[in-house]
Amino acid sequence: MKDLKDQTAFVTGGASGLGLATARALAARGARLILADIEAAKVEAAAAELRATGADAIGLRLNVAEEAEWARVGEAAGRFGEVSVLFSNAGVGGGSGKFETYDTEVWRWAYAVNAHAHLYACRTFLGAMKASGRPAHLALTASMVAIVPPPISVAYISSKFATLGIAMALRNELADTNVGISVLCPGMSATNIVATTQKLRPGATEQGGAAQTAQNMSGVLAGGMSPEKIGQRVVRAIQAGEFFIFTHPEWKGMAEAQFAEMLAAFGESADPGYRGDDIAGLIAANGAKRMNVAVKA
Ligand SMILES: NC(=O)c1ccc[n+]([C@@H]2O[C@H](COP(=O)([O-])OP(=O)(O)OC[C@H]3O[C@@H](n4cnc5c(N)ncnc54)[C@H](O)[C@@H]3O)[C@@H](O)[C@H]2O)c1
Repeated sequence: MKDLKDQTAFVTGGASGLGLATARALAARGARLILADIEAAKVEAAAAELRATGADAIGLRLNVAEEAEWARVGEAAGRFGEVSVLFSNAGVGGGSGKFETYDTEVWRWAYAVNAHAHLYACRTFLGAMKASGRPAHLALTASMVAIVPPPISVAYISSKFATLGIAMALRNELADTNVGISVLCPGMSATNIVATTQKLRPGATEQGGAAQTAQNMSGVLAGGMSPEKIGQRVVRAIQAGEFFIFTHPEWKGMAEAQFAEMLAAFGESADPGYRGDDIAGLIAANGAKRMNVAVKA
């Protein structure tokens, strides 16, 4: 999507951090913005900030985890403009603590916000984006933790793996359509995510070691990359049609080591007499033309 001028973009988590930074970068290229966020006052303030710079922007209150809320927001968005850029970005941290004692309510919440919401976003907008036949783009925010998992929350990491999986599967589905797709995998960025998570998480407030870990993470993230730089990078990727958006190359060596380990684990077939999977047949059986993976000869 080279030209973003007068395109309408819908950004979840648009009141803060990477969502707002990307919205600013989109607005700087002439896009019209619909910011959606669970924080009603903050999202309205963010939209007002964009309008003050001359952009056309509205803010809508939306809990991305509540499927029923999407219909109302979809209608309001439709009155503002035909969405051609969808940035499904809202996300929360997973909190801390050992997996065997992890709060099941917090688990469901983290998955609802970080993973299930992408389906609701696509059910609301993707069909019309395709039907328009005009250039359109979908971007999802995963994380570098979905490429190289550090020793942090299992709920956060695994829900971000779900986002990466959704993006990689959708990439096949959107091949040969007018809709491009990107997946944002940032490393650390100085956003409000720890405070946002503490405020929005259901159930009891974290105590003891878990609270201390959150405090420590807050300090680590404060030294992270500027969200503005990441937002600008996201917009360049949308314009260039790049799938993976890697913003933090310092993780590359760990990604290489991890994939090398995985590749080394491919050994002999468990059944040396087996002819091997019919991958072309698998693709054809699903009505697809190709798989979005380049295989070296
Ligand atoms: N900050 C980082 O280091 C980092 C790294 C990798 C990925 N990410 C991802 O970036 C995305 C944006 O987070 P951020 O770091 O900008 O944090 P942030 O807290 O500054 O912004 C997130 C926004 O999402 C909103 N939000 C949270 N739950 C919501 C819900 N249920 N419905 C609607 N809005 C909701 C919050 O109100 C907030 O405005 C997230 O998906 C996060 O996982 C962040």
